[in-house]
Amino acid sequence: MSFIQLQQVTKIYHRSLKPAVDNMNLEIEKGEIVTLLGPSGCGKTTTLRMIAGFEQPTAGMIRIGDQIVYNHHFSLPPEKRGVGMVFQDYALFPHLTIEKNIMFGLNKWSAKERKERAQEVLELVGLGNFANRYPHELSGGQQQRVALARALAPFPNVVLMDEPFSSLDAGLREKMRHEITAILRQTNTTAILVTHDQKDAFAVSDRIVVMNEGIIQQVATPKEMYRCPKNCFVAQFVGKTNLLDGTICPDLKHVNTHIGRVCLPRRLERRMENVKVSIRPEGCRLSKDGKYCGIVERITYSGEYQELFVRLSTQTNDEDPLIIYAPIDQDVEIGSVVSFDITPELVALVD
Ligand SMILES: Nc1ncnc2c1ncn2[C@@H]1O[C@H](COP(=O)(O)OP(=O)(O)O)[C@@H](O)[C@H]1O
Ligand SMILES: [Mg+2]
Repeated sequence: MSFIQLQQVTKIYHRSLKPAVDNMNLEIEKGEIVTLLGPSGCGKTTTLRMIAGFEQPTAGMIRIGDQIVYNHHFSLPPEKRGVGMVFQDYALFPHLTIEKNIMFGLNKWSAKERKERAQEVLELVGLGNFANRYPHELSGGQQQRVALARALAPFPNVVLMDEPFSSLDAGLREKMRHEITAILRQTNTTAILVTHDQKDAFAVSDRIVVMNEGIIQQVATPKEMYRCPKNCFVAQFVGKTNLLDGTICPDLKHVNTHIGRVCLPRRLERRMENVKVSIRPEGCRLSKDGKYCGIVERITYSGEYQELFVRLSTQTNDEDPLIIYAPIDQDVEIGSVVSFDITPELVALVD
């Protein structure tokens, strides 16, 4: 049995017609780190708040461990669900020391136990010497670690984190992604994170849940999600892609598109009519005698690679040029002809 289960969970807010979360089914294993990823307004926070018990679903069932915490005639109050929350702005009490912030959630414990546990979790997050400081005396990254320590202190069943990295600058963000995941792993904590940033999701998750308009689009490991996006939404939201119309060739291993015949990662089991093909820009590799060639219309430098917009001779002017990533050390000029190959592993048929 999975550790956390959401079954047909729907939330329709008062006075709104469209569900914020629509018939959501999701199962999470013990110790897993799962990220809800999607654009703003797609229902991520609502989902998290229903699991925590701050928001009541309109329909469905939620189970944590072997306890049903919500169904149509029962709702366990938030403080009894064993859920630790880390909020976007950390929500530390400014007038309490770090130690007291952490002890706050342990009100049922003896004074001695509370103090010991606060010290223990502060050491876990590398802030053993900070017990007597106040939140404003800490950096953003340190405050975030305190928020995590506070969430972990009562030995929760699950830690829920809403946009945990969004208020950190790029460098610190990368560091905190790594540190937070390390702490969650070390304590075998089950965690559900919410983010609209795919880099966050890719860096920390065992599995990613992509949502749009309250509906789960795909649940997959980061690698699967990138290589085999299920539909156009996922292909375009997670990374960049080239979406082309195509028809499957009789050998069931290639697809005909306006850029020519493209090889699929594996042979299809059955014939399909008009299909959509996603080709990742990383899957197009410049090579001297490549199978495809076109004219470079535009170049964008991203620092890590250069993004080439290439128009093939088979393309009409109203079709989008193909996006290709080229290594930054490769000299390419606008107006020049480039030839390239396409790696089948980064080609996917999408709904
Ligand atoms: N308390 C509320 N009352 C009414 N509508 C809400 C409330 N909270 C969120 N919504 C709506 O529900 C949808 C999902 O919101 P939310 O879960 O906050 O999305 P996300 O966290 O993915 O940005 C949005 O359309 C939002 O406007
Ligand atoms: Mg939100």
